[in-house]
Amino acid sequence: MKSVSKPTSEKQPFRIICVCLGNICRSPAAQGVLEKLIRRESLESQFAVDSAGTASHHIGRSPDARMIAAAARRGYSLTSMAKLFAKKHSLERQIVLAMDRENYAEIVRIAEGNTTTIRMWSDYLDENWPRDVPDPYYGGHAGFEYVLDMLEAAAPKILAECMQARGRMDSV
Ligand code: 4NP
Repeated sequence: MKSVSKPTSEKQPFRIICVCLGNICRSPAAQGVLEKLIRRESLESQFAVDSAGTASHHIGRSPDARMIAAAARRGYSLTSMAKLFAKKHSLERQIVLAMDRENYAEIVRIAEGNTTTIRMWSDYLDENWPRDVPDPYYGGHAGFEYVLDMLEAAAPKILAECMQARGRMDSV
């Protein structure tokens, strides 16, 4: 697996950005799942998580009400406001997590070569899971639950890898 990049200073948090299409369903939930895990491990001073979308339709909006409700039932509060993924995010985050292959291709295009930090969410899942975190926007309730299942399944592994990278960074 490729290594993640270092922040410029060990005092800075290790920055994670989750990216989907609209930044109102999958990536805000991914952010919420990672943030809760970080709080549970008392790592708030070491990590910062945000999210973005590759499409501009929903910029400035809160997450989709269906995702807010599904996440709340599992104890996650989703606090993001939708923003557009930009090249600067690829430079200023230590890891960029794409929800699906279309997002990945779009992130690579926007990043203009700053691609070493880009991962698929499903890189942290075994082959029993699909490659893409499926877009729940036009579907029913079950789609939102499935997204949360997939996010919860990978989040501990993602955080473990980021902690390792953070440890390597602090030891330099
Ligand atoms: P997301 O879901 O990429 O997980 O935020 C979507 C939200 C909105 C749309 C598509 C997907 N849309 O077409 O408006």
